[in-house]
Amino acid sequence: MGNRIADLFGIQYPIIQAGMVWASGWRLASAVSNAGGLGIIGAGSMYPQVLREHIVKCKLATNKPFGVNVPMLYPDIEKLMAIIVELDVKIVFTSAGNPKTWTSYLKDRGITVVHVVSSVKFAQKAEEAGVDAIVAEGFEAGGHNGRDETTTLTLIPAVKEKISIPLIAAGGIATGRAMLAVMVLGADGVQVGSRFVASNEASSHPLFKQKVVEAGEGATQLTLRELTPVRLIKNKFYNDIQKAYAGCATVEELRALLGRARAKKGMFEGDMEEGELEIGQVAALIHEIKPAAQIVMDMMEEFTHAKADVQHL
Ligand SMILES: Cc1cc2nc3c(=O)[nH]c(=O)nc-3n(C[C@H](O)[C@H](O)[C@H](O)COP(=O)(O)O)c2cc1C
Repeated sequence: MGNRIADLFGIQYPIIQAGMVWASGWRLASAVSNAGGLGIIGAGSMYPQVLREHIVKCKLATNKPFGVNVPMLYPDIEKLMAIIVELDVKIVFTSAGNPKTWTSYLKDRGITVVHVVSSVKFAQKAEEAGVDAIVAEGFEAGGHNGRDETTTLTLIPAVKEKISIPLIAAGGIATGRAMLAVMVLGADGVQVGSRFVASNEASSHPLFKQKVVEAGEGATQLTLRELTPVRLIKNKFYNDIQKAYAGCATVEELRALLGRARAKKGMFEGDMEEGELEIGQVAALIHEIKPAAQIVMDMMEEFTHAKADVQHL
């Protein structure tokens, strides 16, 4: 395809399956890589030993490139990085932190490094830190989000203006048409999260996958801006947050309400009431749970048709 992202990773299609807590283990990552995209193991919800097992299993399940996503908030991050190096993982996506902290360490060990940002300022910092590519994520995305609340439509051309390394767009992309749109805006490839949550191979709980399929317009909201802003489905837990805001809760009270393991409770254990259910606005366009390979193929087919469709414009 002669594409900078496909060439950088040695993959067929410039579709990256986002690293996602409680959703993207070795099954999903290897299925996407085998289908010609780039699968990513989400290490953020894994103990170091669990990550080790997922990397080993992923290597057995695919001989194609795959990566690991490491959110820099992870408390035992040194242990994760040591395992990544020891097991010879070739691609690391870092997020939620300063790109300077780990980029040279990883690059010195021959690893391709990509950093996730939600603003032009941090895109430039990441480029200065020496990363190989950037994911720019708009605030319609599922999961943790930027404070500036810039949409993908605005963010991608703004980042493109200021950086020269390959650019991956994320946030609101679940179809081939959306993929074409962000590539017209300057992206070299896409990172897709929510769409892959509703895949057969995602490790998310079946009830959560079903909830994603049922989510319509307006089903998600960005909240907890005082802690780490997160986009989630409006369920009982979300309503409890709203009540806390109405009662002028302090940051400490919000933190106590969030508590520990909320995301695991919802997305992995299937508690649709009390759990945190991270998903993007694009859930409204997801109508069925499909095999990951089918998602990749459908996106590429729609992308090709959409490109032909706009020839006449
Ligand atoms: C359930 C879920 C968990 C996520 N976990 C992570 C994570 O651990 N690390 C990360 O960098 N991004 C995480 N994200 C964000 C994704 O990597 C991706 O950038 C985002 O989902 C793209 O937007 P979309 O959901 O509209 O496709 C998560 C997203 C979702 C939906």
